[in-house]
Amino acid sequence: MRGLAGKVGIVAGGGRGIGAATAHRLAEEGASVVIGDIMGDWAGEVADAIRASGGKAIGVRLDGTAAASQGEIVAAAKAEFGGLDFYHSNLAGGTEGDIDALNCTEEVLDKSFAINTKSHFLATQAALPALLERGGGAMIYTSSGAASGAAPWQVAYPMTKNAIHALARHVAAKWGKDGVRANVICPGLVLTEAVKQHLTDDYVARAKKALPHTRLGQPEDIAAAVTFLASADGAWVNGQVWHVNGGAQMRD
Ligand SMILES: NC(=O)c1ccc[n+]([C@@H]2O[C@H](COP(=O)([O-])OP(=O)(O)OC[C@H]3O[C@@H](n4cnc5c(N)ncnc54)[C@H](O)[C@@H]3O)[C@@H](O)[C@H]2O)c1
Repeated sequence: MRGLAGKVGIVAGGGRGIGAATAHRLAEEGASVVIGDIMGDWAGEVADAIRASGGKAIGVRLDGTAAASQGEIVAAAKAEFGGLDFYHSNLAGGTEGDIDALNCTEEVLDKSFAINTKSHFLATQAALPALLERGGGAMIYTSSGAASGAAPWQVAYPMTKNAIHALARHVAAKWGKDGVRANVICPGLVLTEAVKQHLTDDYVARAKKALPHTRLGQPEDIAAAVTFLASADGAWVNGQVWHVNGGAQMRD
């Protein structure tokens, strides 16, 4: 893809899964990558693997729900690589106890909003000044097909993911004239470690059967879309919510 050589990006929640695959792909395209994760060791291991393949990366511990930590990861990008051109806000979690609206506790709701919505807001607050210093850049948020699905078994996570869409449209509308683009990727079912831990083999088999595609998603499928949005090839994509899902939901 065009325009990523020499650019600097952050991947938050990049210690494994979709974020790790995205960090690898961005580095392959020539970007310098700062990988942040609450699991600092995982972030370090992904960065080590990228450097071992000849790429440029560092890994740092990030608590995405804390403004100070978001400020530190942006500062790390500036200190190590001289600035920031894009931020992939990808982390998620806190789905334990998130069931239907009558049985999801207030604590579970608050936790989910902290991890799955507030972290993206704080990432935006930390990253935007650095993007504007460079004359623009890209925010890319990871949402989910769950945002537009209708799951009877889960209430908070879909609510939090919808909020990200509003955040991205706000950023796109407010700072588009300044060269900032903000977009959202909604993955369908992607076979990451997290998914393999939480979903039964039967659920995965049924999802594969229902999908109008030959296979379920791999982290690299989402990494490709994120990398496109970060690159110069994505220069005219702004304020969009993209479903990358093998056709699981077909949306305008
Ligand atoms: N895998 C799927 O099928 C799927 C489907 C739809 C959407 N998604 C979304 O894609 C993204 C990545 O999913 P994944 O399957 O790779 O999940 P994952 O659990 O493997 O990755 C999430 C990462 O975020 C990190 N993290 C959690 N809380 C954090 C915090 N407070 N601060 C910093 N890091 C934190 C975790 O340690 C983990 O490494 C998530 O936003 C998820 O909601 C995934």
